[in-house]
Parts: sequence; structure tokens; C-alpha cells
Amino acid sequence: MIAFIFTVICALASAQPQHRTAPTFEINLDKPPEQRFSVIFDPAAGFNETVWEFYNMYFANNERLKEALYHLVATRGEEVPEMQGEIRGLAMGSKLPLPFVQGIQMLYELQTVMVPIVNVSRLPKRLVSTLNYTFERETAPPEWAALSQIPWRGPGCTGIIATNTLDGTVSHARNLDFMPHRIMSRLVYTGIFTRNGTELYRSQMVAGYVQAITGMRRGPNGFGLERNTRYTDHPGGFEQALSNLKAGRLLNGWQLRQTLEACATYECALDRLSTVPYASTEYTILSGVRKGAILSRSPDYVAYKQTLGIPADTQPASYIIMTNFDFFYHDIREWFDPTGGEMFRPRRLVAQGLLNATLASGRALTPKVLFDVINAEGVLAGGNDSEGGGDGTIFQALINVELDLWNVSIPVLKHRRRDDARAAS
Ligand SMILES: *[C@@H]1O[C@H](CO)[C@@H](O)[C@H](O)[C@H]1NC(C)=O
Ligand SMILES: *[C@@H]1O[C@H](CO)[C@@H](O)[C@H](O)[C@H]1NC(C)=O
Ligand SMILES: *[C@@H]1O[C@H](CO)[C@@H](O)[C@H](O)[C@H]1NC(C)=O
Ligand SMILES: *[C@@H]1O[C@H](CO)[C@@H](O)[C@H](O)[C@H]1NC(C)=O
Ligand SMILES: *[C@@H]1O[C@H](CO)[C@@H](O)[C@H](O)[C@H]1NC(C)=O
Ligand SMILES: *[C@@H]1O[C@H](CO)[C@@H](O)[C@H](O)[C@H]1NC(C)=O
Ligand SMILES: *[C@@H]1O[C@H](CO)[C@@H](O)[C@H](O)[C@H]1NC(C)=O
Repeated sequence: MIAFIFTVICALASAQPQHRTAPTFEINLDKPPEQRFSVIFDPAAGFNETVWEFYNMYFANNERLKEALYHLVATRGEEVPEMQGEIRGLAMGSKLPLPFVQGIQMLYELQTVMVPIVNVSRLPKRLVSTLNYTFERETAPPEWAALSQIPWRGPGCTGIIATNTLDGTVSHARNLDFMPHRIMSRLVYTGIFTRNGTELYRSQMVAGYVQAITGMRRGPNGFGLERNTRYTDHPGGFEQALSNLKAGRLLNGWQLRQTLEACATYECALDRLSTVPYASTEYTILSGVRKGAILSRSPDYVAYKQTLGIPADTQPASYIIMTNFDFFYHDIREWFDPTGGEMFRPRRLVAQGLLNATLASGRALTPKVLFDVINAEGVLAGGNDSEGGGDGTIFQALINVELDLWNVSIPVLKHRRRDDARAAS
């Protein structure tokens, strides 16, 4: 009964969701890698139980998936010693199988195998022929076919970098969307990575995953960093990623962490992330003091670059935006992504409509405006869980390097409210 009343009250609340905070942990880089992440086993955070829940629900009873993932891990071999040490520490602490903990480090790369949500067999034949490369999942080598059963998937994520004409500063807003939302939203935290007692960089983290997801290097010419899933842009793209993974290429997120560690400036980060090899396609979204860029990364090169201040591809000079599709190449898959609430209403276009309207009315793209845009209906993912898919925004960030702003929170989604109320009653 209490749960019912709670749900009704929340349904009547304003369109913008409430937000809760995520825990913050210091990850001390002076400690041996095996010990750095022991802080996240704090019972109050409940991460250990949640990761076990994830494992039991999706892996423990799926021998084919486990076998394929462990086979990939074995083929790949150990990660670089520092990363492997961190993985070992997490496996020892949680008592989860080591190849499982190592396997989920490929979270982003393996996602590119997924056909983004659309069940192409439901679409008209005429469209299917233009969706050509989304069939890759079917054509993946049989040995690896079970990898398409990985339980996490996007597409998710929205990133906006914009200039506020009131003070000239640049803000960066992001939604991190993931499914299964119910589990993923309970695993997020902020890691403050320290060396010699002071912060070197910070990152939004998912417990059990040691790589950076949204990061910030504070300082007079520092940078904010976001990654979004990018699907392959040509037939054979996933096999290329798979062969990079098998060959042991550094994972994308490790390259990001290394960049946060090695680079104190925006230029250093931009240069590095434009050139280092990635294991798979991905968007790299970088903001700095009065500057910003979005790199559409292929494993070996930058396929496309958007630069704040240079109007192009239906974006004015004052902002750049990215969700999960090469819209500048008219990637048709964007239209079939229902995560904003429905198909044929891409999150990017909803966000651009709001940004454009703000500009048209003579108002500036302030941090507050950006925060409202990423929380708007149609941009925030997962307001609608009626199909039980459980995709949703699990973490948000609002970064302004010049103002030293790092504002992270978790939106309390509608279907979560019901769960939360149930848990509380
Ligand atoms: C995590 O959970 C597992 C399974 O319940 C348990 O064996 C292990 O000791 C737990 N780890 C910590 C640090 O509490
Ligand atoms: C896709 O749709 C077809 C036809 O409606 C159905 O038979 C098939 O089971 C669906 N596949 C998935 C993975 O949902
Ligand atoms: C469709 O796939 C074929 C064979 O893989 C390829 O040659 C062709 O370029 C693809 N077309 C598009 C539009 O991607
Ligand atoms: C570490 O901090 C101490 C005290 O603040 C300082 O004296 C020392 O130079 C620092 N070492 C490094 C390597 O930065
Ligand atoms: C937003 O404005 C740009 C021009 O500044 C335009 O090219 C684009 O089509 C607009 N998009 C939407 C969704 O309004
Ligand atoms: C939620 O999803 C269902 C099924 O896809 C759809 O019928 C319904 O209109 C959606 N509701 C909203 C508010 O988007
Ligand atoms: C920072 O996030 C909170 C949600 O936790 C939000 O209420 C607040 O308005 C945000 N700050 C700014 C400057 O937008």
C-alpha cells in the first residue's frame, strides 16, 4: 500500500526526475594494483551483492555465454600487469571467477557486436537491405556467436558540449545509459584516483570495471572526458574488433585511464586520443577550457571529428552533440533506437530541438540548461520500461573544467521508483 501511494505521488511529480548521489571512493594509485579497489567492498555500498546478483542472473546458468567469454579471455591472455593486478584484486575480494572479472573489462568493445535493439526481421524487407551491416551478429564466427548474449547493452549515452555565451565557459553534459538498468544503476560510483595523497584525476565508475567511463582532469587547462558506444561503420567491423581483442590490444577504457593519468592538458589528451590504437569503434568526447571536440574513433584512426566553434552537420558553432550513431553519415540505425522512449524520435534530435529553441529565444546554453536537456523526456533513457527491457540512464555528469564543476548524480527513473519503494516498504 505504501508502495502504491509512493508510485502515485511520483507519477504526479514534475517531468524532471529526482536525483540521488552515488558514493565516492578514493582509489590510491600508490597502493599495489591488487589492493587499490578493496575500498569499494564497503558493505554500505552493496556492490559485492549486486555484482553477484548480476553474475547469477546472467552468467552462472548460461554455459555457452560463459564458455565464449572465457575462451576470449584465454585467447587474449593477461592484460598489462597493472590492469591485471587490479582485476586479480577484484576477483579475490568478490570471490568471482577471475575470467569473469577479466571478461567484463571488454564491456564496451563487446557491445559493438550488438545489433542496436532493432529486431531487423520485424522491419520491411526494403529497409532491411539498407540495414545491411546490422546482420553482422548473425555472421560472427560460430565459435563466438554466444557473445551476442551478453546481458548488458546500449545503445545509450548522450554527450553535449556547449559554450555559455554569458561567461564564455564551456560545459559538458552526459547521460550514461545502460541495461540492465536495475542492476547497473546500483553499481556506479565516483573514483577519485590519487597519487601522493592528492587527486590526479577522477572518473565515473561501474563497480568491477577498472576503466574510465567519464573522467575529469582538473586544472587550468584540464579536460573532461566521455566515451559513448559507437557501432561499426562497415561490414566486417565487428570481426575486426574481435581480432583486436584476441590479439590483446589495450582496451579503449584503459587508453582513457592512461590518458587521464599521463595528460595534464586538453591538447595532450586530444592528441593522444586521436592517435592511440583502440580495440573497437567508440566516440571520444572531450571538453576543456573554452574548447571541445568529439572524435568518432575507429580502431586505428579518427573517422570523423566535430569541433566546438565550427558549425557543421546541423550543429551551430555553440554546441556539439553525440549519442551513438554517425548522424553526419546519416546512419539509419539512429531512427530505430527506442531508448529515448520511442522509435523514430532519436534522442539526438530531441536534444537538438531543445538546444536550438534555447538559442532561438536568445538564451544562453548555461550548465542549468544542459542539465535540463539531458533530463528531458525523449533524451533521458528508460522512462518507459513497459517492455521490461530495463534500459535506462544510470549516471549523469555535468562538467565545466574552467569553473571546476563536477556534478554527478543518478536519475531516479519511474520504474526504479516503484522498485525503490518496494525495497523500502
Ligand atoms: C563477496 O560475496 C561473496 C559471495 O557471497 C563472498 O564469498 C565474499 O567474501 C564477499 N566479499 C567481500 C569482500 O565481502
Ligand atoms: C525477431 O522477430 C521475429 C519475427 O517477429 C521473431 O520470430 C524472432 O523471435 C525475433 N527475435 C528476437 C531476438 O527477438
Ligand atoms: C552491404 O554489404 C555488402 C557485402 O558485405 C557490401 O559490399 C555493401 O557495401 C554493403 N552496403 C552498405 C550500404 O553498407
Ligand atoms: C609527495 O608529497 C610530499 C608532501 O606533500 C612532497 O614533499 C613530495 O615531494 C611529493 N612527492 C612526489 C613524488 O610528488
Ligand atoms: C538545430 O539547428 C541547426 C542549425 O543551427 C540546424 O541545422 C538543425 O537542423 C537544428 N536541429 C533541430 C533538431 O532543430
Ligand atoms: C511505452 O512503450 C510501449 C511499448 O513499446 C508503448 O506502447 C507506449 O506508448 C510507451 N509509452 C510512452 C509514454 O512512451
Ligand atoms: C547538479 O546536480 C543536481 C542533481 O544532483 C541538480 O539538482 C543541480 O541543479 C545540478 N547543478 C547544476 C549547476 O546544474
